[in-house]
Amino acid sequence: MPHAIPESLQTKIEERLRYYQDLNIRLFYRDRVAHRAAAPETPVASRPEPSPRSAAQEPVLPRPKNMPAAPPAAPAPITSSAALSLFEEKVPGDTLLKIREDLGECTRCKLHKGRNKLVFGDGNPHAQLVFVGEGPGADEDLQGLPFVGRAGKLLTQMIEAMGLQRKDVYICNVVKCRPPENRTPEPDEVQTCSPFLLRQLDVINPKVVVCLGACASKALLQTNRGISQYRGEWQDWRGRKLMATYHPAYLLRNPPAKADVWKDLQKVMAELGLPLPKKKSP
Ligand code: URA
Repeated sequence: MPHAIPESLQTKIEERLRYYQDLNIRLFYRDRVAHRAAAPETPVASRPEPSPRSAAQEPVLPRPKNMPAAPPAAPAPITSSAALSLFEEKVPGDTLLKIREDLGECTRCKLHKGRNKLVFGDGNPHAQLVFVGEGPGADEDLQGLPFVGRAGKLLTQMIEAMGLQRKDVYICNVVKCRPPENRTPEPDEVQTCSPFLLRQLDVINPKVVVCLGACASKALLQTNRGISQYRGEWQDWRGRKLMATYHPAYLLRNPPAKADVWKDLQKVMAELGLPLPKKKSP
């Protein structure tokens, strides 16, 4: 005799399926066990992440030249395939408008409680280059637009230094609602919101994704490694190139790190075929 599913479990399954339906996800045929086995877990970093928001989470700054290096731990390759397997299938006929409609007046996580405006994303829907930040701050929450506060002004300058304008690129965040007191988004909030980000990235289909800061890098690369360990190195992300670099808010507190970010952005420019600034003669 077939086992009856308890009503409470059935309700939970129905709710979960409705949620996936909201996300336009209908196919669940992938063998995730085998898939996971193929993708090595990345090690938990032993040092703190640079966070755009909290000074307590600064990156470990470059070691002075005369300080001996710690024995290098062989870094596991960053692969993004494991945890994203549910969302690997593209949603046929998806558009940014549809994603925005699916988000609706979102109440899927607790961040909605303090929100003024949901910040979906802004820019060129066909951009070759997408910047992904952490989550809206106070200015963004009021205007409903990403990166319009102080950090946003710096991001705009960075984009212009690349020879581009904001309207040439697309800018969005991992979470679409402002975390209270600008705290780092919590794992459940990232998990709930990131399927929408993945859909945005699939629809825009950029050549390069730049993750601004640890939150975006961790969310997309599914790694706990500290961003300082791999920033500036190209990562393969779902068939695209991903560059993790420091968040502009972090640069506001640590202006010397701007040089690192500029190096990273020049790699992005080279990849996109943008003219590089002429090197100053010695
Ligand atoms: N910081 C972010 O990560 N995103 C924004 O939109 C603004 C500030």
